[in-house]
Amino acid sequence: MNHEIVEKNIGLMILLILVAISFGGLAQIVPLFFSKSTTQPVEGLEPYSPIELEGRDIYIREGCHVCHTQMVRALRSETERYGHYSVAGEGVYEHPFLWGSKRTGPDLARVGGRYSDAWHKAHLYNPRDVVPQSNMPAFPWLFDNIVTGEHTADKMRALRKVGVPYTDEDIASAAEPFENGQVTEVDALVAYLQQLGVLIRNKR
Ligand code: HEC
Repeated sequence: MNHEIVEKNIGLMILLILVAISFGGLAQIVPLFFSKSTTQPVEGLEPYSPIELEGRDIYIREGCHVCHTQMVRALRSETERYGHYSVAGEGVYEHPFLWGSKRTGPDLARVGGRYSDAWHKAHLYNPRDVVPQSNMPAFPWLFDNIVTGEHTADKMRALRKVGVPYTDEDIASAAEPFENGQVTEVDALVAYLQQLGVLIRNKR
């Protein structure tokens, strides 16, 4: 009898279907907010330094994430090539995350420490100088642009609002590394690249 009411009233049916489906979704999603493995930083994880933070924004501005993922999947072929698969605790301070979905170039989640700073600079200036068959674009302007750091403190404040544990001192001294006027965009970008994934890269 009751069921007939539902079957004859499509509005009510839609509503009840949505309620039923959302239980399935909630059962999967809600526990993740409370699970340690997804909410706690991995050991040693620090918020980005001012220079790394600016480097990360240059990475986003230049669209590096459009060709490069930062997500090593738990597949043998990937862990053999890149190192330990990515874990959620490495990304708890990432806003926005840069996992990406397309690999025109290799995954960069664990590229930190794999090459020297000089290699990265040569590669970014003209990839063909170090990898002759490369089709990655060149980014020569990064060598001319100076990072002023005038917005670094604001960026840290914004990140703190979403849970990144920057202290008042961190924010007060955010512009210091840039004060000498010598930090180029490529310096900042390479500093960002060199710390990617180093915390657990060698664990297998
Ligand atoms: C149009 C696609 C494309 C874009 C955009 C791009 N790359 Fe690449 N990248 C590649 C390709 C293809 C390779 C492999 C050939 C090579 O090493 O140059 C590569 C290789 C690399 C490597 C070496 C990785 C390794 O493990 O050997 C690094 C580091 C890198 N890119 C960084 C960057 C950064 C930083 C940016 C943004 C400033 C960027 N890429 C933008 C396509 C791209």
